[in-house]
Amino acid sequence: MPNVTYVQPNGETQTINAAFGASVMHAATSNGVPGIEAECGGACSCATCHVYVDEAWLDRLPPMGEDEEGMLECTAAERRPNSRLSCQISMDDELDGLVVRTPETQS
Ligand code: FES
Repeated sequence: MPNVTYVQPNGETQTINAAFGASVMHAATSNGVPGIEAECGGACSCATCHVYVDEAWLDRLPPMGEDEEGMLECTAAERRPNSRLSCQISMDDELDGLVVRTPETQS
């Protein structure tokens, strides 16, 4: 199963074995990783699953859809060039080892 590592604003990290095809958001919320609220449950309509993707992984992510692009204008924390919505990233072998950082706030 592909691994994803979540880095909290205080530097604490958690690495999760994500089910193949699970979103980065779901892997976090189903394993008690703090910092990802995911109020809409992955419907790309809340922006509370905002993460900052480690730069080394940006080129390997699936392209951003229009919905995600729009919702990223609504994040509580500052949007950065490496901002993504974690519910829109599905884990697969290509993303094994992915690192994302959670923002200071989601709401
Ligand atoms: S969970 Fe709501 S936009 Fe990702």
